[in-house]
Amino acid sequence: MPTEIKPISEHVDLLHNAISPRFGSEVQGINLLDMTDDEVAALKQLGAERGVLVIRDQVMTMAQQAAFAHRLGELTTYPVKQSGGLPEMLTIHADENSKHVAGEGWHTDISSEPRPPALSMLRMEIVPDSGGDTLFADMYQAFASLSAEMQLILLRLTARHDPTGHYLYLSGEKTLRELPSQVHPVVRTHPLTGRKALYVNSAFTGKIKQLSKPESRALLDMLYQHISAGISFQIRVRWQPHTVVFWDNRCVQHHAAWDYFPQVRHGYRATAIGEVPYLEL
Ligand code: SIN
Repeated sequence: MPTEIKPISEHVDLLHNAISPRFGSEVQGINLLDMTDDEVAALKQLGAERGVLVIRDQVMTMAQQAAFAHRLGELTTYPVKQSGGLPEMLTIHADENSKHVAGEGWHTDISSEPRPPALSMLRMEIVPDSGGDTLFADMYQAFASLSAEMQLILLRLTARHDPTGHYLYLSGEKTLRELPSQVHPVVRTHPLTGRKALYVNSAFTGKIKQLSKPESRALLDMLYQHISAGISFQIRVRWQPHTVVFWDNRCVQHHAAWDYFPQVRHGYRATAIGEVPYLEL
């Protein structure tokens, strides 16, 4: 259901420096745990506009992170890998025993859900000496940088998203059949900005409904290549202990770089549930 586009709060101006001209910001001068409701609303709006927000030096406990994350909206809960008995907190951890890490490969989180994620909040406690960056790609610019003819084609299409990249499937907790698949528009409108974002990703998108299997495969491969090669609409975030990063899954894809084995990287993620994706022409 389309929701009203809310302008960024006129009363709250969050100080931020652009990471690249149109994508990603480092927000300065805030302590997340002291924010007013107006400031949290402004943070969500800025996240929708800039896609990724990086905030340094946010010392907090896991319970404090969970309490803050609840202010972002209803949260996804995790039956596995939850932290400290808090079902809304997912542990992100890699060390010398890891065989794989969460988030390798470009993706948006659990897009196979009927209401896929809005903002994710990841806080790192332990980071490797070097490496372990997270890469982000701007799906507003990914769509806008396609040719006008290709944009017109994509605006008419929907795609099925399967739980092939779902943490419950990857962890062996559930089979594909036990998890939902969902059809979403290939291009979606962000409710807080009114902007259009490309919404297919290689971890979850199975097939474009209106096309034959080979046509769908070719189009999806072209779009994934466009996203992974789109360095002009990507940024790379370098973590420090106590860095918090928010990203808006409605308009951003991310990719965790696992280039630091066997070092330890450890943090906690919470994710707000978004609306049913829609396209407003
Ligand atoms: C993820 O949420 O996909 C993991 C991101 C990261 O570890 O940088």
